[in-house]
Amino acid sequence: MKIAVLKEHADGERRVAATPETVRKFAALGATLAVETGAGDTASIADAAYRDAGATVGDRAETLAGADIVLGVQGPAASSLTGVSRGAWIVASLDPFGTGPDRGRARVDDYAAAGYEALAMEFMPRITRAQSMDILSSQSNLSGYKAVLDAAAEYGRAFPMMMTAAGTISAARVFVMGVGVAGLQAIATARRLGAQVSATDVRAATREQIQSLGAKPIFVETVAGIEGEGAGGYAGEMSAEYQAAQAELVSGHIAKQDIVITTALIPGRPAPRLISAAQVASMKPGSVIVDLAVEQGGNVEGAIAGEIVDVNGVRIVGHRNVPSRLAADASALFSRNLFNFLSAFWDKGTGRPVLDAEIGDAIRLTRDGKVVNARLLA
Ligand code: NAI
Repeated sequence: MKIAVLKEHADGERRVAATPETVRKFAALGATLAVETGAGDTASIADAAYRDAGATVGDRAETLAGADIVLGVQGPAASSLTGVSRGAWIVASLDPFGTGPDRGRARVDDYAAAGYEALAMEFMPRITRAQSMDILSSQSNLSGYKAVLDAAAEYGRAFPMMMTAAGTISAARVFVMGVGVAGLQAIATARRLGAQVSATDVRAATREQIQSLGAKPIFVETVAGIEGEGAGGYAGEMSAEYQAAQAELVSGHIAKQDIVITTALIPGRPAPRLISAAQVASMKPGSVIVDLAVEQGGNVEGAIAGEIVDVNGVRIVGHRNVPSRLAADASALFSRNLFNFLSAFWDKGTGRPVLDAEIGDAIRLTRDGKVVNARLLA
């Protein structure tokens, strides 16, 4: 069983899909690991560290030759997998709904045509036994943390209240919209920095979570949101009535905030629009908005992916690929997700992983030359 670990080629991608720790663990299962030269450079992992852990390090052709499993952070182009035979597994975040050349559905079709079994890690079901394999959670948690630091870096004031001989400065007011994994970490991080934090979500279950982190819940009371966790833990699109009530609530609150962090996502759909241009205009100059959903269409009107936009003194931060901005930790967690996944299904007899139906059917996009995933065939 040969596992290949590729150097990432997507623009701005600094993460890597294996670390020396996971190389050692795969080797202990009996696998042979081949790492592409320089794969860990941007995540502060030297080739020598992979070699010390038992991997071979070589050029892309050597790495891929005869590989049974190819690990990536983002999916590699099928045309770049020379030397990988039909039947091999491609395990990465495969972004089947993405757009652009060499991405999205076109890339999935290429995997099918090449006969690969493409496994999309972001389709991992949200069931208890798969929590340690969940790349969306491991990466969102880091995004939530980094969003607060990015906001602090753009903000021309301090976060905590400070009483000094020269007088007092007041604490920053931070509002977090969308309290999933990223939002919870954003609340915790902003609190640790000393901000006064409030937060909102459509899922009623988040109210207690917000309070338990010492933040103030701001909820639409006139129209029912989503009770419990929502389907699979996820939110759906809200009614027009709810959206109107939410817009009114947010308008009143947002003008008083210094920092707003938006994280709201709806799986398989564009991100919900939570902040209008008029609401941005109501904020004080010097305020900062970080839109973590910018690559899924954005929660904030005027946010641009990959840019920091200044609208009358309000900065809207739209960094792409925020986990990659913490490449070392993001790689460590992503790599463990991959190891936890493959090792949980490792068949000692055959020396290779064998998936069960519940997880296999959820994440498998292609097999035997065809696209097989229900979410892509619907
Ligand atoms: P997500 O990234 O899909 O969305 C982020 C947040 O935005 C969610 O809390 C969602 O309710 C909220 N949102 C969506 N539309 C909104 C709107 N119009 N206004 C305000 N907020 C809006 O969610 P994420 O971070 O993936 O987590 C969702 C839930 O799944 C959480 O409760 C989490 O604890 C749970 N979860 C369960 C796992 C498991 O059991 N294996 C693993 C990971 C998360």
